Amino acid sequence: MLTQYFTACSLDGFIASDPEDGLTWLEVCDGDPDGPQGYNAFIAEVGALVMGATTYQWVLDHQDGPWPYEIPVWVVTHRTFPQPTGDVRFSSAPIPEIHTALVEAARGRNVWLAGGGDLVGQFHDHGLLDEIWVQQAPVMLGAGAPLLPRRIELEQIELVENGDFACRRLRVKR
Ligand SMILES: NC(=O)c1ccc[n+]([C@@H]2O[C@H](COP(=O)([O-])OP(=O)(O)OC[C@H]3O[C@@H](n4cnc5c(N)ncnc54)[C@H](OP(=O)(O)O)[C@@H]3O)[C@@H](O)[C@H]2O)c1
Repeated sequence: MLTQYFTACSLDGFIASDPEDGLTWLEVCDGDPDGPQGYNAFIAEVGALVMGATTYQWVLDHQDGPWPYEIPVWVVTHRTFPQPTGDVRFSSAPIPEIHTALVEAARGRNVWLAGGGDLVGQFHDHGLLDEIWVQQAPVMLGAGAPLLPRRIELEQIELVENGDFACRRLRVKR
């Protein structure tokens, strides 16, 4: 069981540009979800995931079909959201408690920290981040939400190309 941060980012290390522009810079990039370090193989090994309230709101705003996840989803928040359509659990519990619940729900599979970056940093602050899978897009954003605003020493496990993306799998050095 690994706790993994899987995300796309710009070449200058942002996972989202300004709120109006959203993820349009990412949507124009070409990547194969069945290709190397692609989403489909990654998610097949995941048993539970967690995201911040802003990311959850983005998913709700851009959902044009059914709820996209078949596994339990934790949303860390102090906000009150409408009743979710999928298996979504809202929490403002301490991060180690949330991690314990995620691991239990994942039943031996991996835990996905879906972002944003500071939330992933909070897990790292407690020694609870094992790997980062990052797909770097050929675009500079200049500003936005940071990939992971912490100092972390990493070891590269694999570097591959997938369409427009340079994909890295990295292990957190203990
Ligand atoms: N490129 C990609 O693949 C990718 C992936 C993920 C996200 N994104 C985008 O990146 C942006 C991420 O933005 P972000 O980093 O600002 O947001 P975020 O992590 O999604 O959400 C931040 C919010 O989560 C809540 N929160 C965080 N830690 C908490 C804790 N310990 N306890 C309780 N609540 C907590 C707080 O909201 P409240 O206190 O107000 O509830 C906080 O303002 C979004 O625009 C998202 O759509 C992109």
